[in-house]
Amino acid sequence: MKIIRSIKQMQRVAREIAAKGQTIGLVPTMGFLHEGHLSLIRKAKKEADIVITSIFVNPAQFAPTEDLDKYPRDEKGDIKRIGSAGSEIVFIPKAADIYPDDFQTWVTVADLTQTLEGESRPTHFRGVTTIVAKLFNITRPDVAVFGMKDYQQAVVLKQMLRDLGFPIKLIIAPTVREKGGLAMSSRNKYFTPEQRREALCLYYALRTAKAMVKSGETNCRRIEKEMRAVISGHCPTAKIDYIAFTDLNTLKPLEKTAQNTICSLAVRLFKVRLIDNMKLS
Ligand code: PAJ
Repeated sequence: MKIIRSIKQMQRVAREIAAKGQTIGLVPTMGFLHEGHLSLIRKAKKEADIVITSIFVNPAQFAPTEDLDKYPRDEKGDIKRIGSAGSEIVFIPKAADIYPDDFQTWVTVADLTQTLEGESRPTHFRGVTTIVAKLFNITRPDVAVFGMKDYQQAVVLKQMLRDLGFPIKLIIAPTVREKGGLAMSSRNKYFTPEQRREALCLYYALRTAKAMVKSGETNCRRIEKEMRAVISGHCPTAKIDYIAFTDLNTLKPLEKTAQNTICSLAVRLFKVRLIDNMKLS
């Protein structure tokens, strides 16, 4: 497996791969990899000849109040895991190369970034779209794989792809969960085992919503009320940032569940902000 840290070298290697007629799959990550990330690499491996996994804790998508400095890192372990999942190349650029002092070009997706995560984190998606566009330009992938766990991110990136004409197939892979149902996240490592059990409240709330819809409930307010009760019952100190019912593709808010309704939520517990989602119908 090749480890590449220079942008120029990554561009050269990507051109060489394409010249050989091989396809490239890209899996962008911020490192501290878990099974969720590895499932994206395995998916990319099925779709492309050569898989590039990038590790870059992107400062531009963190607000000053967020956890950039203490975001968990484990480069050595990540490189091992990436290799064993079948990725041929790890791209680990330096922040100073990605964002040199005179950096001033941003990619923004207008409407889709105004709701949900965008409301709570107003500068977040601009950072995501800018870094992903830059990674696309550096690695020239045929396929890029993202996780459903951050489904608004995937929808926003799909829009960017269409709007800017990137010739890339974007694949959204399912959320990988721990045994009890907690969505895998690099931020779970902040929890003690007891807190981790309480963090299951997100999953339990989503399961409640899904069960209600299955038994015929369509009123989103009523579903939300039950979800709030489940969360406070399971984790009394949890602070709900939002619970939202939206169309899967347009992110438009819904009063009643319809086809392609997705429920997503963000909850703060023990100073960690977790997000999760589930398609309800
Ligand atoms: P990061 O949080 O490291 O996630 C990298 C990719 O892994 C994203 O596509 C995310 O949706 C996916 N992922 C995370 N947890 C997952 C899980 N439990 N199951 C399946 N997939 C999961 O998302 C980012 O980094 C950044 O915003 C990035 C796209 C790399 C841009 O900086």
